[in-house]
Amino acid sequence: MPVRDLTAEDFVSYRTLASGAFGGGVDPASPTAPRDFSAGQIPLGIDASALPGGPRGVIAAGARIRRDQVALGGGVARCGGIAGLAVHPAYRGEGLFGTLLAAVIARCHAEGMELSMLYPSNPSIYRRYGYQVVARGRSLLVPLVDLQRIPAVPGRRLVPVTAESMPRLRRLYHQLTSGDNLMLRREPPLFPVAVPAHPWSALLLEDDAGTAQGYVSWTRRTDAADGPGLEVHELLGRTRADRQALLRSLGSWSTVTERVRIRLRTEDPVLDVLPGGGARPDPSPEPLVMMRVIDTAATLRARRAPAALDGTFELVVQDATVPAGTCRAAGTFLVSVQHGTITVTETDEQAGAAAPVLGTCRLDIHSASLLLVGGRTLADARRLGLRADADPAAESFLDALLAGPRPSVLDAF
Ligand SMILES: CC(C)(COP(=O)(O)OP(=O)(O)OC[C@H]1O[C@@H](n2cnc3c(N)ncnc32)[C@H](O)[C@@H]1OP(=O)(O)O)[C@@H](O)C(=O)NCCC(=O)NCCS
Repeated sequence: MPVRDLTAEDFVSYRTLASGAFGGGVDPASPTAPRDFSAGQIPLGIDASALPGGPRGVIAAGARIRRDQVALGGGVARCGGIAGLAVHPAYRGEGLFGTLLAAVIARCHAEGMELSMLYPSNPSIYRRYGYQVVARGRSLLVPLVDLQRIPAVPGRRLVPVTAESMPRLRRLYHQLTSGDNLMLRREPPLFPVAVPAHPWSALLLEDDAGTAQGYVSWTRRTDAADGPGLEVHELLGRTRADRQALLRSLGSWSTVTERVRIRLRTEDPVLDVLPGGGARPDPSPEPLVMMRVIDTAATLRARRAPAALDGTFELVVQDATVPAGTCRAAGTFLVSVQHGTITVTETDEQAGAAAPVLGTCRLDIHSASLLLVGGRTLADARRLGLRADADPAAESFLDALLAGPRPSVLDAF
């Protein structure tokens, strides 16, 4: 079944399909209605007319691939973010999902992307195609009385974020997340340089010299009477004191609302400076993040290696979830690390390695997708029942290479 690039002419048909699946109205007659796919995305689809009795002008299945970039082990990887994947109700249960997703994976490979990512509503259907849950969105409900007790932090001041200061916030975000795994780089055109639309607000935390040391962004909520009056999207500070200063600033909202919801990264450093014991996990469903390795060698090359780690091991990745050649996750690779640089060569498993190797690590695509995005060990993969066998020296080496924070994805400022 042919999967093709969608164009501006397909936009209304795709929007009709997507809003039919996910909700949200489409009024193509409105003068403000978008007329084309947003820049930075690759829309793909299957025509209903390619199916028996299918009409023209209807998209039977469609999805968009976002050209995202993510922080990865001190480097940056290109990542195809899958969005708006839907199959028309007339054609569900006939295998179009698999056809489309295999084409999406192949396209991510053709575009030179190392990884692919998505937020699933049903993880099991994506797992069959090699995507693995690597992170969960987490938010805390925090009573504002807890934050009012935080003492003032000397040498710090707050300034409103405006169009002029937004580039400073973006630069600080890059600095403070560059050591994370999977935090989006948030580059244009997917993330415009402009200040996000009202009612988004933010404050920069500056030192006495005017250097940005942190920021907090939020939206004021008045819609739910018993819900938190403030949604904090992010609270990032360079030091513990900076995070405390930003938390303290939130305490000032206690006259108009009792609680704040704070969106967190995995093992967020904010947790370590949160005073009081009144915080509770947000009871809303936790959004899941799934990742898939598209190109094993390029994923490894995208990261930096710890300075003191030198050695060579063999890595075998098996991928039975898509036909051979769909992408470059599967293969036998010789991975060498020297002076912080990682070199990867694909080898023929039968030929064996010419250089002395520490041993072999064998991963299936599920454990490769879990591990190569960092922050976990082969033992973690085995605990999930995924295949991750290795010679002891090779296992310790790969664990050390991939050590770092557990992955987090926050999708907006
Ligand atoms: C989910 C969706 C994309 C599946 O598309 P589809 O073409 O009907 O799926 P397929 O026929 O290729 O089936 C793929 C597999 O997923 C399973 N599946 C399909 N829909 C499912 C559902 N809602 N819940 C659980 N399993 C489902 C099928 O049973 C099938 O498994 P099998 O291979 O063991 O038989 C489609 O139902 C849809 O568009 N739903 C609304 C939008 C949506 O949920 N998009 C995904 C957002 S993350």
